Amino acid sequence: MASVPVFRYKRHVLIKFCAEYLLALGATDEEASIVADGIVTAASRWHPGKGQGLEKLFRLTIQTSNGGIYNGAEFEVLKDTPAVSHVDGHKGYGYVIAAKAMNMAIEKAKKVGIGAVSVRHSNHYGQAGFHAETATKAGMIGIVMSNARAELAPWGAKTPVVGTNPWGLGIPRDNGFPILLDLALSMSGEGMVRWAYREGVSIPDNYVLTKEGNRSTDPADFIRETPNGLVFQGTQMPIGEFKGFGLAFFTDVLSGVLSGSLFGTEVFQDISNHDVGHFVMAINPDIFMPHDEFQQRLEQLVQMFYAAEPTDPDSKLFLPGELEFITERENEKIGIPIDTTTVENLRRLAEERGIQCPL
Ligand SMILES: NC(=O)c1ccc[n+]([C@@H]2O[C@H](COP(=O)([O-])OP(=O)(O)OC[C@H]3O[C@@H](n4cnc5c(N)ncnc54)[C@H](O)[C@@H]3O)[C@@H](O)[C@H]2O)c1
Repeated sequence: MASVPVFRYKRHVLIKFCAEYLLALGATDEEASIVADGIVTAASRWHPGKGQGLEKLFRLTIQTSNGGIYNGAEFEVLKDTPAVSHVDGHKGYGYVIAAKAMNMAIEKAKKVGIGAVSVRHSNHYGQAGFHAETATKAGMIGIVMSNARAELAPWGAKTPVVGTNPWGLGIPRDNGFPILLDLALSMSGEGMVRWAYREGVSIPDNYVLTKEGNRSTDPADFIRETPNGLVFQGTQMPIGEFKGFGLAFFTDVLSGVLSGSLFGTEVFQDISNHDVGHFVMAINPDIFMPHDEFQQRLEQLVQMFYAAEPTDPDSKLFLPGELEFITERENEKIGIPIDTTTVENLRRLAEERGIQCPL
């Protein structure tokens, strides 16, 4: 799926633009830098239809003006033990709060082998894998999860109860890219259905259910055209059917119920108070065995993975995260794709804020 038109830009151009735009919204230097890194990295790794790239600036614009996000929000430690912390993000940027929580978890794991941080009163933290990758850069195994707007119905139901609640699982490797499983617990996402609709192609019948609870491969069954754009109607289907729903439910217990944030059908409903919760963990592999031994054993498993016989002899096997690292490398050469509608809207927003737009 790539035929919806895109413009392509160098990473440093996008980083500079995003950071300047965020500063104009009132973000601190630290916030602008972390959020710009997150959304540009997302744009460089994922299909534009995933909606994790620069289009996130639209929502941030609304939320920083309606009290949904506070610039310079306090990151308050409510409870702190050697291995565990409970923190309050006070409605700051989700990317920033999750990044700080992960750094805390890493410091704990360095000292006592494990660090877990429960986060309340946060916002959308972007790619779960971005935060798990931070752990891998410090030599730690990272486990990150968040709740989100209810989009998954219990298996056998047609009304949503929990979000697509993304997980980021990262494993550090001395040689080569980290193993980075970064996934929503849904088969697809609203963005990809909208993308298929614009492109005029069908979707697999296990992506989404219509609002009546039926399967369909026609994206038009899920889309309503409005003056403000395409509106999705229906529910997302969980990965692994009832098992995926169970994982998403479990995620909401750790992220929402346990943290003191909103959960289930209440989280993410009011744009001035999304009140998202996260659960962030770092594990130090060096506690369990000598560093080199773990790395050697891990590489043995990686070799077993690549030695598996593909069903199609011409196809390649990819470790979790590998496809996104390949895409990122490719986009470094040819430019990061931003869809043209997003670019037009960004140009307009930049003009309104009096910022030079290089796009
Ligand atoms: N913060 C939120 O509320 C939220 C919600 C949903 C998604 N997201 C983010 O959106 C992004 C996209 O998520 P997604 O679930 O659509 O991703 P996806 O389904 O495209 O990929 C999920 C995982 O599967 C791996 N994978 C994909 N194809 C593969 C193949 N052919 N072989 C081997 N491995 C393969 C990928 O490397 C990735 O780790 C992620 O960064 C996710 O965290 C965030």
